[in-house]
Amino acid sequence: MNILVTGGAGYIGSHTVVELLNYNYNVVVVDNFSNSSPIVLDRIREISKKDFKFYEVDLTNKEDLEIVFKENEIDAIIHFAALKAVGESVKKPLDYYYNNILSTLYLFDLMRKYSVCKFVFSSSATVYGQPKKCPIVEDFPLSVTNPYGRSKLIIEDILRDMCFAYSSLDVAILRYFNPIGAHKSGLIGEEPDGIPNNIMPYITKVAVGKLPVLNIFGDDYDTLDGTGIRDYIHVLDLARGHVKALKKLEENPGLVTYNLGTGHGYSVLQLVNAFSRASGKKIPYTITDRRAGDVAVCYADPSKAEKELGWKANYGIDEMCQDSWRWQSKNPDGYRETAKG
Ligand code: UD1
Repeated sequence: MNILVTGGAGYIGSHTVVELLNYNYNVVVVDNFSNSSPIVLDRIREISKKDFKFYEVDLTNKEDLEIVFKENEIDAIIHFAALKAVGESVKKPLDYYYNNILSTLYLFDLMRKYSVCKFVFSSSATVYGQPKKCPIVEDFPLSVTNPYGRSKLIIEDILRDMCFAYSSLDVAILRYFNPIGAHKSGLIGEEPDGIPNNIMPYITKVAVGKLPVLNIFGDDYDTLDGTGIRDYIHVLDLARGHVKALKKLEENPGLVTYNLGTGHGYSVLQLVNAFSRASGKKIPYTITDRRAGDVAVCYADPSKAEKELGWKANYGIDEMCQDSWRWQSKNPDGYRETAKG
């Protein structure tokens, strides 16, 4: 089976490409390296000892994208490529709508033109907005608070409309909770451009001495220690979830939607402590104001994915922290430096 992976050089994309290669899928990667590096592709080959086709294409360039469909008989698409910084999306909404939505519309057009009927979409728990309660079940009401989240929800809505209109389509919408961790080899991991927005890359940059102190956004939430609670999930578990979703699509289920989370919530302070245990590094932190738009508690009910995909998260918080640290400590400058032993 030939799988087109958009954004395959990105954080979740690269781990998923490794997993697909491990399962002997033929993989075609498309990426524009907007928040990633060509080195990732070499690292994927090194880990998997397998090769795959790569196209440096920006998905908003439909002519270039069509070449990929012309030159490869694509059976299924896993669509990761997107801009994903919440704060930036508030300041530059049009960038987010052009990049995330226009590119996906082009992909849908080409999918129809070349009769590709299987699609896995990289969505986010952000589509649950401010959830009324936890754990979050897939049929909770959907709402968003920023253009990034809205771009995910709009694409989900388009997919629902498409599945209603075209009975030949099989679509899996995967709503990720908070991905952290890295490949066991320490060769690929999360490397955001500039100062990280998300907590784990921020913690690892403090641990490696690139940033002085972690700012914890609020300790006055109604939680066990006042800091926000999230469902952190190992990126390797997420990657495996995509392979399970592809297998599900072979059963022609139409539209299916799954939460990919562990079902367990950890506070920011619990995460910081787990990281310190895993790395032996003390993480200096200060408590600052709450970050606008943050919810107090967010964790998944992942039982639907377990029941219907036979998928459940295997890794616990300690291993997630160990693997994040292995990646960052071996690559203190991210992909700008070769990993050492
Ligand atoms: C964020 C996005 C969400 C996106 C997800 C994955 C926001 C408001 N939400 O989720 O839309 O889908 O990333 O990319 O940005 N924290 C700190 N200090 C930091 C960073 C974070 O205390 O420097 C805290 C946050 O307040 C939160 C927790 O750590 O309680 C996790 O934050 P983060 O990693 O940014 O993820 P989310 O906010 O859950």
